[in-house]
Order: sequence, then C-alpha cells, then structure tokens
Amino acid sequence: MKTEHAPTIRRADYRPLPWTVETVDLHFSLDAEATVVTNRMLCVRNPDVEGGPIRLWGEALERLALTVDGQPPASLREDGTLLEIDARGERVVVEVRTRINPRANTTLSGLYRSNGGFFTQCEAEGFRRITCFPDRPDVMARFTVTLEADRAACPVLLSNGNLVEQGELPGGRHYAKWEDPFPKPSYLFALVAARLVALERRVRTMSGREVLLQVWVEEGNLDRCAHAMDSLVHAMRWDEETFGLELDLDRFMIVAVADFNMGAMENKGLNIFNTKFVLAKPDTATDLDYENIESVVAHEYFHNWTGNRVTCRDWFQLTLKEGLTVFRDQQFSADMLARVASEAAGPEGAASARAVKRIDDVRVLRAAQFPEDAGPMAHPIRPDRYQEINNFYTATVYEKGAEVIRMLHTLLGQEGFRNGMDLYFSYHDGQAVTCDDFVEAMSEANNGFDLDPFMRWYGQAGTPRVKASGAWDAAAGRYTLTLTQDTPPTPGQALKLPLVIPVALGLIGPDGRDRPLRLEGEGQAGATTRVLRLTEAEQTFRFVGLDAEPVPSLLRGFSAPVILELDEDDARLAFRMAHDADPCNRWDAAQRYAERVVLALAADPAGEVAPGFVEAFCILLGDDRLDPAFRAQALALPGEGYLLERMSAADPAALRSALMKAMRTLGRALAASWLAVLETMAPAPVYRYHPGDAGRRALANLALRYLAAAGDERGLACAQVRFEGATNMSERFGALAALVQSASPARGTALAAFHARYRDDALVLDKWFALQAGAWRWDATAAPTLERVRSLLDDPAFSLANPNKVYALLGTFFRANPGEFHAADGSGHAFWAEQVIALDAKNPQVAARMARTLENWRHLTAALQASIRPQLERVLASEGCSPDVAEVIGKALE
Ligand code: PHE
Ligand code: ZN
Repeated sequence: MKTEHAPTIRRADYRPLPWTVETVDLHFSLDAEATVVTNRMLCVRNPDVEGGPIRLWGEALERLALTVDGQPPASLREDGTLLEIDARGERVVVEVRTRINPRANTTLSGLYRSNGGFFTQCEAEGFRRITCFPDRPDVMARFTVTLEADRAACPVLLSNGNLVEQGELPGGRHYAKWEDPFPKPSYLFALVAARLVALERRVRTMSGREVLLQVWVEEGNLDRCAHAMDSLVHAMRWDEETFGLELDLDRFMIVAVADFNMGAMENKGLNIFNTKFVLAKPDTATDLDYENIESVVAHEYFHNWTGNRVTCRDWFQLTLKEGLTVFRDQQFSADMLARVASEAAGPEGAASARAVKRIDDVRVLRAAQFPEDAGPMAHPIRPDRYQEINNFYTATVYEKGAEVIRMLHTLLGQEGFRNGMDLYFSYHDGQAVTCDDFVEAMSEANNGFDLDPFMRWYGQAGTPRVKASGAWDAAAGRYTLTLTQDTPPTPGQALKLPLVIPVALGLIGPDGRDRPLRLEGEGQAGATTRVLRLTEAEQTFRFVGLDAEPVPSLLRGFSAPVILELDEDDARLAFRMAHDADPCNRWDAAQRYAERVVLALAADPAGEVAPGFVEAFCILLGDDRLDPAFRAQALALPGEGYLLERMSAADPAALRSALMKAMRTLGRALAASWLAVLETMAPAPVYRYHPGDAGRRALANLALRYLAAAGDERGLACAQVRFEGATNMSERFGALAALVQSASPARGTALAAFHARYRDDALVLDKWFALQAGAWRWDATAAPTLERVRSLLDDPAFSLANPNKVYALLGTFFRANPGEFHAADGSGHAFWAEQVIALDAKNPQVAARMARTLENWRHLTAALQASIRPQLERVLASEGCSPDVAEVIGKALE
C-alpha cells in the first residue's frame, strides 16, 4: 500500500510518451493466490516525441522477469510505480512476467476474486496492478489474451473481442484465446474466469450483420437477466436510429459480479456490471431498479462509441466520454419512456413521461452535484489537477458534464448536434482526444458556430447563480426582463467570468395560459417557449405585444445547470404550481414552496405549515388529469441533503424536526385525498415494468408514506395489507418503507418478515440494510438509529469487503440520514472515523467515497464542526491512510 500522500498531477503537464505499444500478447495462468501474467509488448517509438525511455507503470506486482528483445535490459530505472527502460531502434519487444495474488486484492482494482471466480477492473489505473504497462489512455494497442485456469472451478473464460481458440490442458486445466481487433487503451482490458451461465440472443444490426449478445450470471440468477438483455437490444436500436452508430463486434457480453466498486464498466465487448444493475425480476426488483438497469446497460453500451472507439487523451478529459455518455443515456431513457407512454396516453403522455425523467435527472444533479460544487472538492467538469484520479469520478464530471452537453444540444439543435457527432467520429475514430476536439467538431459542423465562450463551462467550477427581475409597462404592453449571472469563488479559483447560459423562458398570462413571445424589434409573435442566450453578466430582454402583466417561467426544462434566484411570493409560487405549462417548472415551483415552508419551520419550531401551501399541495394531489408519476414527483418534499445545503449554519436536527412536522401535517390535512389515491391506485394484478404502472405505484407509495408519517390508522393498515399481499418488490418495499418510517409498532415485525423471506438474496438484503440505516426516529422512545447500524455490522449478511453492503448500510446512514448521523453527542462522527479507517485498510476507493460524506462539514453549525474536526484529523493521521482518503480529508481541512 502507498503510504505517502500522493503528489498533485496537473493537466498542463500532459506530454505524449516517447514510446507506445502496437500489439500486446497476454498470457494468464490463473490461480487464486499466485497468478502468473506473461506480457509481450511490441513497443514502438512515438514519431512525435524526440528521444526518451520506454515508460511502464506497475503496482503491487512481483516481477519475475523482464527482457528487451530477449535480452536483459541494458539500463533500467525504477521510481515507485514507474519503470523506465532505455531502448534503441524504432521497435522492440518487451516481455514482462509478473506474479500477483488475486485473493489478497481487496481493492477490487486490478485482478481480484469474487465468489470463486476471477474478475478485473482496470479503469482508471488498475491495469498496472496486473502487469507493467504504459497504463495511460493515450496508448492504444491491439490485445491478444490467453487465459488458463482450472476447468472445474472456472468453466467460463472470457476476454475482449472474439474467441479464436480453446482447448484442454493437463491437470484438469483448460484455456481460451481471445483477440480484440480494435486497438484500445489498457483501461478497457477485461477478463473473467468463473462458473457462470449465459442468457443469449442473436440479433441483426442495421447493416444486417448477425451478432451474439450474452448476459453472464451465476446459475441461480438466470431468471433475472431478461430485462438487462431487452435493455441492451433497445440501446443498440436507439444508437442506430439516433446516431447511426452500430455495434462493431460479432459478440457483445455483459457479466454480472457481486463485488464491484462502481455501477458498471464499459470494457470493450465485455462489459462488467455490478449485479445490482443487471439482475431483476418482479419479486426482487423495484421499478427504480428496472429503470436503473435500463439506463446503465445503455450507458455502458453507448460507451462503445463514446469512450472506446474515441477515447480520452488523458484522465483530465474524463468528461469527454462520461458527460457525453450520460447525456446519451438520459436521452435514451427519455425516448424509451415516451415511446411506451405515448402508446397508452398519446403525445401528452409522452411529454409528461419525458418531463418526469428530466425531473429525476435534475433531482440527482441538485442532490449530488450542487453540494459538490459548493464544497472543498469543487472542480470544473474538466479538472486542472488531482491527486488520485479515482476521486474524480464525480457528479460534476458525470452529471454536470451531461448538462454541458445538453446545453450544446440546446444551442445547436438536434440536427446540428447530430452533424457534430458525425464529424467528431469521422475525425477521431480510433484516437485518444480532448474535450476541445469534441467542441471543435461541433463548431465546425455548425457553420463555425462560435463555441469559444462556451468552453468556459469546461474550465470553471461552481454553480452559477442567475437572478431575474421583471418590469411591466402596462401602457406599452411591454415586459422587461433583466437577467444577471454570477458564479461564486471555489477553491483555487477566485475569479469567474460570465458563461453562455441558455435560458428557456415562457410568459404566463393571468389566465394561466402561455403568451406567444415577441421581442422588441421582431415582426411577429412566435412560440410560447424560447431560449434566450445569457452571455454577459447582465442582460435585458424586452417582450412586447402583451395584454397583461405576465408571470415569467424561467429555465424551462432546466435548460442550464444553474441556481435560479427568484423573488416570488407564495401566491406566485402557488400560481405556477397550478398553471406553469412546463412540467419541470411546475415541479420546481412546488419544490421552492416546500423549501420555503420547511426552512421556516426549521427556523421556528413553534411555527405551523403555511395553509396556502397545504392548499396548493391539495390541488396538485387531486388533479386526476395529471400523470401520477408527475404528481409523485411534485408532492415529494425536496431531499434532506439539498435542503441542508440551503441553510446557513445547517442544523440537521432542526431540519429533521421540520420535515417530520411537514410530513405529519400534509399527511393529516390531506388524509382523505391520500386514501382516495390508495383506492384508485390499487395494485395491478400482474407486474410489468411500465412507466404508467410505475407512476401509479410511486404515487400510492407516497400516499402510504404521508399517512404513515401522520400515524393515520387507515393508512398504516393499508400499508400492512399491501406489504403482506404484494406481488412485486415495488409494492412490497414501498409499504415496508412506509411502516419503517412511522411510529407504528408493526415496523419491527414487518422488517423481520421481509428478512425471513429474502434472507439468501444479497441484493434484496441491501435494501433491508439501507432502509434501517435511513430510518428516522418517528417514535421518540426508539433507540438512536446508530445503535441499529452498529448491530447490523455484525449481521452475517454484512461485509465491509462488499461495496454494495457498505453503500447500503454506511453510505445510507452517513449521506441519507443527516438527522440521525449528526447526533449532538458526536457518536455518529466517531463511528464515521472508525468505519472509514477500517474500510481504508481494505478498499481505499470505497473508503474515499465514504470519507466524502463529511466534506461539507463547514456548512454545519459551529457545535457540529467542533465535533467533526477531530474525527477528520484522526482519519488523516491514521496509519496507512491511503492517498485516496488523504486527498478528500486534506481538502476538507484546508
Ligand atoms: N467508466 C464507468 C462508467 O461510467 C465507471 C467506472 C469507473 C467503473 C471506474 C469502474 C471504475 O461507465
Ligand atoms: Zn460511463
């Protein structure tokens, strides 16, 4: 393990390597404790670089042999993980033999064991934990891989590309040889050797080629693969139709593994997935699980073009592939939902389904990315420096990165965007490039559209604030809108320049209808929503031809990742909740109103929920013309984490009491309506994953939550009945969650019944852990949640070695339960330090993720800060603190 804290790596220091690799032949003799890797590289001099050694990186390897053109190297230097070899000529063969211990590898990076099989994870820098290699994304080589293993233990041997040979070996062993025809960076290498079975399907691509699709899982899970397979086929079709992009291999494989640090990995032709994003059947997976599987399968598949065929020059460009691929998966999911919804509910249903998806994405951005942008780790979507690249797989690089691509799409239009994509691939297929290359292709394909000012989005951290103010001139029928923008300073970046911000806007008349928009100087009034371009610190827009003072609806569809500061009174928020033609803004109006009400309660515990809010809420709830999925979104209170960030000197205990009071009030005051929802949203006899059904289930589950919070006996009884009679996990878990988040004595027995039913199902147990870790104390006499979390650490199903378990139990407690985590006595904080230290010894990446749950500690009250600081210091000072964790805590303490 690295013990010294890592040095800072800078984007400006990028230099191409003097030598790259053309072909690489890997041979693996797989063994749980002593795997021998023989690596034969054809190294070639880089014509663009003058002189210099062959550079290879290696980490946690036992080197057995190294030769250059068959000879011991004449001159070799070693410095930490870097190995430099001087070589003559233009092309040399370097052969390295290393021994590694997969069983001892608890980092889940490199080659590791999971449930008796062998799996790899190489992004970002895991390949160097397998063999010595120029382990950077700008080295693209053709790989040939031979795997050798015990036939009984590992009957299935997989790697990237095409299977070209296989056979028996003495001693009960066998082998398989794989060839990947496409040059790729080492981070896309993968192997799997395990006891697995596959669901297979053969499909034709748009050019008529037949390809084999496989989803590999453990035998008992074969009945949970159909949805992942369907999702893959849908993703393939969508990429053909939307971008003209076709699968380029004869075989495409997805493998599910239970121990995985992240969601999934786009290794060429051999995607490796966390089981959580593959396995689903109605009895074990919720609607949300189904939705996530569809989007993650698509995401990884889409990487084949945006990431693999065209990859990143260096890791600072990560958003080149991630922002773009998240945008693509978001568009795909929206299209899928809209397609199904339009069958049932026509174009209006389709529009609503799209809006619900957009709201989901905005929720994630606000909950995860806005706090990151306001904390010590704030960075631009293309960072300038890092200590540990694994810490930069962030909501900023992914989700804000996707927003930046979305803004390009908004500015250029669907067709212009498509032309830009086509040009990007025509220029850069097979290359490792930068974000500038992408934006330049977009510009060139759109008549030289000037995107230079737009590039600031790539370099500036922090969430811009946009302020709007309006002036009405009744005599002239003119409405003057003034927009200003300002981005707060972030660590290392004090000064900010104005950005290009597309602001989609509508003007609502007093009758609740949108007015056609005409800017001063324009001939005719046009559409009712249009996109203004805010490019300066302050700009004014004059709309004419209006019959009455309008109410502006700004940032429709959340057209830019900014915080919109609006000075709207309660009446105006209620008006927009009832009338805004843009569903995102209608939802946003409800969120703003709820935020105001909850924060007022937090500031004044003796206060009451404003009656106007209850009324506006009631109108939305009772509007049966509205899609249930939309109502479920609009009637859910803003996330606790998001609200905490909106408080100055954030007080989680006060916020928790306020949220409880708001939930109880809304549950009680609207009990009749919630019960009516439960009547109309009765469970469907047969489960199908369908946005219409999912929306009804979501609204019914929300009704149970409010009623249970309010202690409503009929609601609790209904939750009990639904829990016991459920035919699918969405309903069973929704009812269970309502019971657990209540003071009802039934909650303990329900949890026990759930456990008994699913005791052998790892993924369902994750839900069981998370639900308990996230439990609020509705019953004031109940023990603190921390006690329960502590005892669950000893549950036989729990393991610190399994990231899903850690995220479910510890992640939920630290991130999603601030009211309990930040107990005034500091017990939660001490527990946090203890667990981060224990995790860090096994898996630094996961430990760093857990460590990040306290990064915004300075936003909390002084008393909480005083309790947290020594715990941060304790972790940083702990023996063997990894560079991953040290970077996070170091920045938090700066
Ligand atoms: N590249 C993966 C994705 O976004 C994420 C990942 C990163 C997985 C690093 C593992 C390790 O699809
Ligand atoms: Zn990705």
